[in-house]
Amino acid sequence: MNVQDNVKRYYGETLKSSNDLKTDACCTPDDQPEFLKDLLANIHDDVKQRYYGCGLIAPLGLKGTRVLDLGCGAGMDVYALAQLVGPEGEVVGVDMTAEQLAVARKHNAWHAEQFGYPKSNVSFVEGYLEKLDVLNFSPESFDVIISNCVINLCTDKMTVFQSIQKLLKPGGEFYFSDVYADRRLPQAVRLDPVLYGECLGGALYWNDFLLMAKEAGFFDPRTVTSRSLEIHNPELKKRLGAAQFYSSTFRLFRIDDLEATRENYGQMVTFKGGLEHADAQFVLDQHNKIDARRKFPVCGNTWRILNQSRFAPYFEFIGDFDTHYGRYPEGEPSKPFETAKNIESNKSTCC
Ligand SMILES: C[S@@+](CC[C@H](N)C(=O)[O-])C[C@H]1O[C@@H](n2cnc3c(N)ncnc32)[C@H](O)[C@@H]1O
Repeated sequence: MNVQDNVKRYYGETLKSSNDLKTDACCTPDDQPEFLKDLLANIHDDVKQRYYGCGLIAPLGLKGTRVLDLGCGAGMDVYALAQLVGPEGEVVGVDMTAEQLAVARKHNAWHAEQFGYPKSNVSFVEGYLEKLDVLNFSPESFDVIISNCVINLCTDKMTVFQSIQKLLKPGGEFYFSDVYADRRLPQAVRLDPVLYGECLGGALYWNDFLLMAKEAGFFDPRTVTSRSLEIHNPELKKRLGAAQFYSSTFRLFRIDDLEATRENYGQMVTFKGGLEHADAQFVLDQHNKIDARRKFPVCGNTWRILNQSRFAPYFEFIGDFDTHYGRYPEGEPSKPFETAKNIESNKSTCC
């Protein structure tokens, strides 16, 4: 059986609910924002029981947008975001496992009624992330692409990143949570079917991920959150050896003229407020938590990300690229582990 068939069987037959997981890789942190708890309360229990995500996927500013969820499973994030995009927006979920999609589709009409929408604003497509090009999605047709604990399971990660670049509109965003390792994993770990299915065996070494993202055209990956994963199962822990694992949420913007490093041109932005669920503060990433109505110094890349994305209407932009003052001290893209150290005490919701 090849790797993909093994993963399909794991998510289609072996696991019946998140209680069947052997590690806490596919779990989300406890500290969910209140607005997200309200959205999740509107989701059918069958869908919630088959949730295997590893992070909180709730990027803001989604009203009226078109969103694609890669590896949507039973549809938990699809139905949460269906409420954020509103009845004028749309969410499409793709997954290769028929059993997962059957649960997602079964409750489609129920959710539309629950949200008070005249018709459903979500759809589900069966397919492989390595072959997104055969699914008839138009290039540059999505505002935001999300994914929750799936890229690690993909057998050709570079192809997936390149396809995401093509499907995003200019200024669009790939916002996703995934599992990373602190080293390249040995073959015995990578080929172990349980470790692979549990989202550990296929995890990228974090530096390989950063290089791969840049090679695919996402020049300045931003870390939103990161937490270390504990492996409690003694047998699996032994098989994994000394490797450490982290669940991190990154945002990658499709903006062509971002620089390799964060450079200082003396620019500032002011967050005007008015963004749903972020009136007092806008969090772009771990370094950029921007209070409303206060001038905030930014590097050239942050200026461009805010200026060329869906967030532009919520900001005032001060300055230009005429004068360069050197590099910002936090010029390096952040390593998932540096953030993880700060929030190591975070608990997970399952396992
Ligand atoms: C860990 S689960 C996460 C599911 C969902 N995102 C969630 O949060 O509940 C991984 C999902 O990705 C799907 N998947 C894994 N590799 C895939 C691939 N190469 N193409 C399409 N779907 C894939 C699996 O079928 C499974 O539903």
